[in-house]
Amino acid sequence: MKQAVIIGASGGLGGALARLLLNQEGWRVLGTHHQSEPLWQHPLMSWRTLDVRSEKEIAALMTLLPTIDLLINTTGILTSPHQGPEKSIRQFNAEHMMMSFETNTAPILNLAKHAQAALKASHRPIIIALSARVGSISDNDLGGWYSYRCAKAALNMAVKTLAIEWQRSLPTATLIAYHPGTVRTALSSPFLNSGSTRTTLSPEDAAEHCLLLLNTLTPANTGTFWDWRGQKIPW
Ligand SMILES: NC(=O)c1ccc[n+]([C@@H]2O[C@H](COP(=O)([O-])OP(=O)(O)OC[C@H]3O[C@@H](n4cnc5c(N)ncnc54)[C@H](OP(=O)(O)O)[C@@H]3O)[C@@H](O)[C@H]2O)c1
Repeated sequence: MKQAVIIGASGGLGGALARLLLNQEGWRVLGTHHQSEPLWQHPLMSWRTLDVRSEKEIAALMTLLPTIDLLINTTGILTSPHQGPEKSIRQFNAEHMMMSFETNTAPILNLAKHAQAALKASHRPIIIALSARVGSISDNDLGGWYSYRCAKAALNMAVKTLAIEWQRSLPTATLIAYHPGTVRTALSSPFLNSGSTRTTLSPEDAAEHCLLLLNTLTPANTGTFWDWRGQKIPW
């Protein structure tokens, strides 16, 4: 049995990824939730509460598992209690930006710090950081969404930097940043325009695309940024 850890399994994409893994043979999953209560159970699924902004809670969670074969961090926010994504610089608020960094950026580094030993115990560990295409600087043709874009761009830098360190200290690992497409979840739904021609995915379809890519990854791909169509995204 291989061990997967899905941080944010109470979310749209995290939940679909957990269920898809459990429907395949050979996986047990530890999933985390924060403000939502888990709405489903499975004999090979265990749930833990986690506030991903707390290093102490991450460290405690990681003592539970001797081996981690797959670690997917799906946690992220686009809106905070008093603010949505900025359409203009007039809406910029540093407090909102810091909240975005706390949830979108720092967690992958604290997770890596405390999961390192369990990842080393795996034959070929895979770590996926849910990023977003809007975090690509070279792909930014539209502007807007300052805090979220900056937090995901910083996440991409964290992935690249960590991958360089792990090529020396954890060479069997494959660590990537991943854009899941526009997925119909609580995070994105308020911003989906019903008249738009943009392709949107169900969480189930998005999870399938993610696992399809995951099955093709090798350590040679570490430190790269991919989208749901299996194409590399420039940083
Ligand atoms: N949906 C899209 O179109 C889209 C596009 C590009 C990238 N992404 C990225 O994909 C990832 C998953 O997004 P989603 O659409 O599935 O969002 P979602 O349904 O809103 O799920 C977000 C998850 O993050 C968790 N979370 C938020 N703050 C947390 C905290 N402080 N501590 C612990 N967990 C926390 C939530 O837990 P609780 O609900 O239990 O609080 C939930 O499980 C995000 O990183 C997002 O940026 C999504």
